[in-house]
Amino acid sequence: MLSEELKYPSNFTPEVQNATAELYKGVEKVIPAVEWPFHAPLIHEINKLKKEKNIAILTHNYQTPEIFHCVSDIVGDSLKLAYEARDSKAETIIVCGVHFMAETAKILSPNKNVLIPDARAGCSLADSITAEDIRLLKQKYPGVPVVTYVNTSAEVKAETDVCCTSGNAKKVVEALGTDSVIFLPDEFLAKNVATQTNVKIISWKGRCEVHERFTAQEILAYKEQHKDIVVLAHPECSPEVVAVSDFAGSTAGMSNYVKDNQPQKVIMVTECSMSDNVAIENPDVEFVRPCNLCPHMKRISLKKIYDAIRFNQFQIEVDEDIINRARLSIDRMLEIGRS
Ligand code: 13P
Ligand code: SF4
Repeated sequence: MLSEELKYPSNFTPEVQNATAELYKGVEKVIPAVEWPFHAPLIHEINKLKKEKNIAILTHNYQTPEIFHCVSDIVGDSLKLAYEARDSKAETIIVCGVHFMAETAKILSPNKNVLIPDARAGCSLADSITAEDIRLLKQKYPGVPVVTYVNTSAEVKAETDVCCTSGNAKKVVEALGTDSVIFLPDEFLAKNVATQTNVKIISWKGRCEVHERFTAQEILAYKEQHKDIVVLAHPECSPEVVAVSDFAGSTAGMSNYVKDNQPQKVIMVTECSMSDNVAIENPDVEFVRPCNLCPHMKRISLKKIYDAIRFNQFQIEVDEDIINRARLSIDRMLEIGRS
């Protein structure tokens, strides 16, 4: 017999079926009917508990559809999640995304209980640079402002002048009014921004392990196979991939492009789950899917969200001094806004 701790809601009772019927209609295009009885009891329980406990679930665009469409209060790119974490009225925020997103939420709402369902959900970009690396760069380039992508640790943000996301990188770089900036840690994002501005960009060697795998040859092969396809790429892809794409933008930028332009056929050169989530909202658009998964984003599951609620885990803790310094760099970014 399983102890209470190991039990998860699993009975697809008529009550659960009725209560989740509308939600299923929303996702039936991407979740087969045979899978729904496994998701529905957890979804039902999570939605009940989060209301009782005044919890807001903030979810990144890369989460799977049963999380993104069925238990989330707010969904979006990292910039939107930062604004929402700052403004949320909930007592507890659960971030379904990766660690730096939850840390950003804690920095912006230090008095709230901020949880991430799996504390190991990291990011290859955040792992590519330390606070000490930034201190050394500042010694090497005295007086040059440091712009840091939000995909970094709180300690790195504390050494930073202003943060940015892929949704506002060019705008942030140009808002500083300097001839050059140190732009960290994503080498490809830095190179892509450099093609759009006269500001000199001093970059670092970080890469996103998901986006660096796409190649221009692969995208050209898709274009050859599907003559009328529209290619949307995340700017963490190489400049060669961006050069053969029709549009490059943040996850929200790509999603809005599809909503606003309703292309007949589209390919999103980014994490795999994004296409499922956007396809649900755009039933007339055909999606061609190259599938690169982010192993860190995929650590989050309904079971772990359920555990996060019942065991109040895993709490994000950041030193007060780091919060105060990191907050300045994020607040400056939020004041500058989206491109
Ligand atoms: P967005 O800010 O575009 O949501 O991207 C975050 C991310 O981690 C992409 O890999
Ligand atoms: Fe980090 Fe890349 Fe995963 Fe985004 S997709 S969280 S940048 S490893």
